[in-house]
Amino acid sequence: MYDFRITAADKATLYRDLVSAAEGLMAGEPDAIANMANVAALIWESLPDLNWAGFYRNVDGELVLGPFQGRPACIRIPFGQGVCGAAAESLQVQRVADVNAFPGHIACDSASASELVVPIVRDGKLIAVLDLDSPAPGRFTEEDEAGCVALCGLLAKLL
Ligand code: SME
Repeated sequence: MYDFRITAADKATLYRDLVSAAEGLMAGEPDAIANMANVAALIWESLPDLNWAGFYRNVDGELVLGPFQGRPACIRIPFGQGVCGAAAESLQVQRVADVNAFPGHIACDSASASELVVPIVRDGKLIAVLDLDSPAPGRFTEEDEAGCVALCGLLAKLL
């Protein structure tokens, strides 16, 4: 049994502990789906105010639903569509304070108000995106972005 309980006073520490726990969970395991599943569960357990946390994988130039926590979600997202598709196409982080103001946002869960999508890129090629949704508007700060970018840097090496 794994019991990672991450409680930190500040976000920088929280994400440092999260990245370190993710590294521990993935150590020695080469299966990307299994690793994404455990990291989605770790994020879900560790970060407050989320209603969805998980991955979309790049499968032949299309985003396909990967391991996640939260409500069932749309399965396939073309590059360029919605927040995830924008991240996949541009290889840039999308930090959206109000998803309803984002052109083409795909509402998988009407409870979602803000979203953070981080591309996972190795050797210039998109492997997957990490997608976090929150029911709170403006939930994701620059510190959340920096922490998730660090986590995705690790994932890019280990997935
Ligand atoms: N809202 C996302 C779709 C994925 S769900 O949030 C899980 C988007 O616009 O790309």
